[in-house]
Amino acid sequence: MHQTDKIQIHDLSFVPLLSEDEIRERVAAIGQELTNHLAGKNPLFISILSGAFVFASDLIRTFDSHCEIGFVKLKSYQGTRSSGDVQTVMGLDKSLKDRHLVVVEDIVDTGRTLHFFLEHLRAQEPASITTVTFLRKPEAAQFPVQVDFVGYDINDRFVVGYGLDYDGLGRNLAGVWTV
Ligand code: IMP
Ligand code: MG
Repeated sequence: MHQTDKIQIHDLSFVPLLSEDEIRERVAAIGQELTNHLAGKNPLFISILSGAFVFASDLIRTFDSHCEIGFVKLKSYQGTRSSGDVQTVMGLDKSLKDRHLVVVEDIVDTGRTLHFFLEHLRAQEPASITTVTFLRKPEAAQFPVQVDFVGYDINDRFVVGYGLDYDGLGRNLAGVWTV
């Protein structure tokens, strides 16, 4: 998409936060660390849809050893009970038992999504779970989650681009933009 110094999406105006070039370098560095960590283990990358698809697609191409990738969609139901949402996982058709898993997220905000998903994965007795998120909003963290690799810690401000959307738009921006 054509880049300017300001982008309007719906009612919000966004300015650049992370450039395409710096993201490429950071993703390559994480890919290198993952390679050191998991080379020869044929890890199964699991990308959480929709937001993480761009990051996952770049990340696996910086992983310098055999690997597989799968995609999951998490569906939440608004609370029928006081305990809050129940989520279901769609799209995980492979057996995870004794596999080395790499969970790929776009952004950890409250940590709720990752917290729930990790519980679901642990129940299936994988050999290991490594978690990677492109962005993290540390001040917002409400659920304790293990995140092994973080692309960038950012402020608690809304962002779009590199897979992340604002009401459906902005996923195709090559960099990350903030309000
Ligand atoms: P969590 O479950 O609260 O950690 O939220 C994670 C999900 O919220 C992400 O996967 C995104 O879909 C969404 N999200 C949180 N912050 C942002 C943002 O700044 N921009 C776009 N989506 C966001
Ligand atoms: Mg997401």
